[in-house]
Amino acid sequence: MEFFIDSADISEIQKAHAMGLVDGVTTNPTLIKKANRDHEQTIREISGLIPGPISVETLSETADGMVAEADIYLKWGKNIVIKVIMTPEGMKAVRILSERGVRTNVTLVFTPAQALIAAKAGATYVSPFVGRLDDIGQAGMGIIEQIRQIFDNYSFKTKILVASVRNPIHILDAALIGADVATVPPATLMQLFKHPLTDSGVQAFLQDAKAWQTA
Ligand code: G3P
Repeated sequence: MEFFIDSADISEIQKAHAMGLVDGVTTNPTLIKKANRDHEQTIREISGLIPGPISVETLSETADGMVAEADIYLKWGKNIVIKVIMTPEGMKAVRILSERGVRTNVTLVFTPAQALIAAKAGATYVSPFVGRLDDIGQAGMGIIEQIRQIFDNYSFKTKILVASVRNPIHILDAALIGADVATVPPATLMQLFKHPLTDSGVQAFLQDAKAWQTA
């Protein structure tokens, strides 16, 4: 399973990268706003830091506009993936871009049917938002299972990129289902290391070692 960092904050990305856990980065308009920096500069810096796929989201609502934006964003790095919204115009753009060999990430996916349409359009990744489904009482992981089954039934090459991850259980469940990628907020990634028994065990070992350690 690949871990992408869901952030546009360079220092957060650098910290996670130092742990060898960053296979890529996803950004979106909200994360860019939060980073409070020039969009192009931010993406160029991330692209220079992380060799894996860097998702940059288009803002247009027409296929032509999305493709025109993609032509600009692709100049910002060699590893740019074009993020496109799940709409009919978005799928037209995905078809055009995938025929040109441009990698795409279809975002704001909330149903297996949307994921199927994105795969048929040739998307490289689909991003089902599990946390936002959980937030409204729908089982986000349920759609990941269904998408996995559909993609396997027809040998789609499109990768399942689990997004809107809220906690380590989302990551664990995504891995158990066989999702290809989880894009994770940096704080949630750090939670994967933690367990109280590990912490207490480390303290106990260090304490006992004092009894025999030479000065
Ligand atoms: O970046 C896409 C997705 O991860 C957004 O998550 O927390 O805004 O639902 P969230």
